[in-house]
Amino acid sequence: MSFTKNDFGADFNWGVSTAAYQIEGAHNVDGKGASIWDTFSQKRRNILLGENGNEACDFYGKFEADIALIRQLNIPVYRFSISWSRILPEGLGTVNNKGIDFYNRLIDCCLEAGVRPWVTLYHWDLPEALHQKGGWVNRSIVQWFSYFVDCCIKNFGDRVKHWMVLNEPMVFTGAGYFLGVHAPGKKGLSSFLAAAHHAALCQAEGGRIIRAQCPDSKIGTTFSYSHVEPYRPTLARDIRATAKVDVLLNRMFIEPLLGMGYPTKDLAILKRIERFMKSDDEANLSFDMDFIGLQIYTRELIQYSPLVPFVNAKIIKASKRNVQYTQMDWEVYPPSMYEALHRFNSYPAIKEIIVTENGAAYKDKLQDGRIEDIDRIKYLQDHIAQVLRAKMDGVKVNGYFVWTLMDNFEWAEGFTPKFGLVHIDFKTQQRIVKDSGKWYAQFLNNGL
Ligand code: FCB
Repeated sequence: MSFTKNDFGADFNWGVSTAAYQIEGAHNVDGKGASIWDTFSQKRRNILLGENGNEACDFYGKFEADIALIRQLNIPVYRFSISWSRILPEGLGTVNNKGIDFYNRLIDCCLEAGVRPWVTLYHWDLPEALHQKGGWVNRSIVQWFSYFVDCCIKNFGDRVKHWMVLNEPMVFTGAGYFLGVHAPGKKGLSSFLAAAHHAALCQAEGGRIIRAQCPDSKIGTTFSYSHVEPYRPTLARDIRATAKVDVLLNRMFIEPLLGMGYPTKDLAILKRIERFMKSDDEANLSFDMDFIGLQIYTRELIQYSPLVPFVNAKIIKASKRNVQYTQMDWEVYPPSMYEALHRFNSYPAIKEIIVTENGAAYKDKLQDGRIEDIDRIKYLQDHIAQVLRAKMDGVKVNGYFVWTLMDNFEWAEGFTPKFGLVHIDFKTQQRIVKDSGKWYAQFLNNGL
């Protein structure tokens, strides 16, 4: 399928996404408080090769050059997140003016360069001080989060017109509070269900606060999505297991937001979330978002497994399946994009979908100052083609953002996976645009 940017229409939003902890560095500079990722990554065993995000890409010191790079790559939208503990070191109470000043300068720099800032309020870096009070497991997080959202809107709402409340609640509650492989490293069903319910309340409450204070802005929130299929397509046990995993991976947070409640019918264990619910919660879980962000990377094949508690299901890794996969061991399966867009489009209450993340990690080779990352270019082209295919079917998709601008700290995997359009030499902080970055720049300039 050959296509150009023009096939998507003039109002289609093209962008690139990042997250504060993965790029900013400056972890203890200018009054910033610690976040759970600062604390978690100081324990070497938590992160591959014992790495941490203390310095990361030093975006804090180099943002002007990086925004200039975004401009140079013809990328009209830049999605980034605000570090809660940079502006509220204790999570609550006193504001750190230097933190506010940093985001003011960043937003102004984007606007001066003609790059539209789209801001994620929470991309996983909870202030450590709030974690000490129970973090997402404590229902008071709804008030704490409201305070933070209010502070962001008051300071930045005059210039930021696109907001995303949460980044992938399933991932930060599942990996951080059930599996213990992400910050804050907690394990267990009960902490997971409490954290999940409070996150679901916050995603709606955050939307309400922004709408009340900044009615001219577009409000969204983002979800991870993986197309799931039974490993053995005709085996009833695998089909049932797949339906359960689908609830967890793809339905658990969007459905309450749309006023449909939690999908407890299809995953009995989820009924236990009701223990954390109060009388008005059902109504408070829903909010009428202007757009839904979807973050799509792969497909998962699911096998029945009696050994796995609660879901009796396990994921069969791509590397065991004789398919193409990336450095993350994620299958390269572009139709996942098409399926996801159709699936979300079929919820009547969703007004607009933006693909807020899509991209691939590959081992890059720097040769003579150049990175010829043809696999990444192909990955991006094939996924963008699926976005167009869905759009031509009438799906309300109106944006696509690449994950990510530059190689960065990939959570528990440290700096090993390389997702960037731009390579970074982490010793010198030198940036080199990869061939994929040049390709995206050319694609975006097409028809201008
Ligand atoms: C998503 C996260 C993002 C990045 C990509 C690879 O789940 O939102 O921060 O880690 O995966």
